[in-house]
Amino acid sequence: MDLGQTFANFQNLAMTAIAAATNAAELEQVRIEFLGKKQGKLKDLQTVLGQVPAEQRPEVGKRFNEIKDVVTQAWEERQQLLNRPKVAATAIDLTLPGIRPATGKLHPLTQTINEFQEIMSRFGFEVEDGPEIEDEWHNFVALNIPDDHPARDPLDNFYLATAAVAGGGPRLLRSQTSTIQIRVMENRKPPVRIVSIGRVYRPDEIDDTHHLMFHQMEGLMVGPDVTMASLKTVLRLFAAAYLGEDVHVRFRPSFFPFTEPSVEFDVQRGDGWLELGGAGMVDPNVLKAVGYNPDEVSGFAFGLGIARFCMMRHDIKNIRHFYSNDLRFLQQF
Ligand code: DAH
Repeated sequence: MDLGQTFANFQNLAMTAIAAATNAAELEQVRIEFLGKKQGKLKDLQTVLGQVPAEQRPEVGKRFNEIKDVVTQAWEERQQLLNRPKVAATAIDLTLPGIRPATGKLHPLTQTINEFQEIMSRFGFEVEDGPEIEDEWHNFVALNIPDDHPARDPLDNFYLATAAVAGGGPRLLRSQTSTIQIRVMENRKPPVRIVSIGRVYRPDEIDDTHHLMFHQMEGLMVGPDVTMASLKTVLRLFAAAYLGEDVHVRFRPSFFPFTEPSVEFDVQRGDGWLELGGAGMVDPNVLKAVGYNPDEVSGFAFGLGIARFCMMRHDIKNIRHFYSNDLRFLQQF
């Protein structure tokens, strides 16, 4: 047997096993297998050593001791390495000065919504909520929007393919928050004074001021003597509360199926006017649809675009910013 080769094999195997041990238990196994006093591989080598002729023994013994030292030292180094406490990748370095963990913020639209609700509750309006998946009754029929009205064109709405299967008529993603007017009046006796803020959906071409999902605030006030003057007062006060006392507002004659008369609500911006929503006196047909008596109560309603207000206050030019989740935009609020 080539003793030199045997020694080299031992060293190779031992070093490989030491390097492969990944924890203290594995390393201990390696120690027992190679360096164990009773039946380790080193012990076997020692036995072989006893059989070499006496004149070769000093030289072979020296080689044996060298290998034993190298392997033992490698084993000890590995043990120290495995015992070293692990530093977590996410550990905070307490020696660094003044690290402030990043704090989150509310999205600018959420901030606007919260502020709108706060302003309107000061005016005595309760906050209501309603579903985003609607039936045609609440989105159109009860709002006096006839079958052949362009707003009901399937291509201008997000109708759901599952609607017919589910029964109860077609369903769509609501195209306006005016649905809430119906839902609230169906469930309550007048007087009513509510706002509702939520998402609406229309398959519009996306541009700087239009998105296929956007937010509206619907307002509704119904009672024995609600007039156009009440409507104009509330909207003017609201615009002043959000945009500042010096805001100039304008009411422009318009048409909506669910209000009569109807107006467009504009605020002045620079040399021009920016349209912020529609409003009007609740159409008697709508009052009848929910079981109210138009001879006893009247009401006003309005629907405003949330993003438009926020864009106006902060001089934001592109509505896409609200939905792109770019921190460079969001962190400015
Ligand atoms: N629902 C209308 C829209 O989405 C906005 C609107 C106009 C709401 C007049 C109203 C209203 O309540 O009275 O374009």
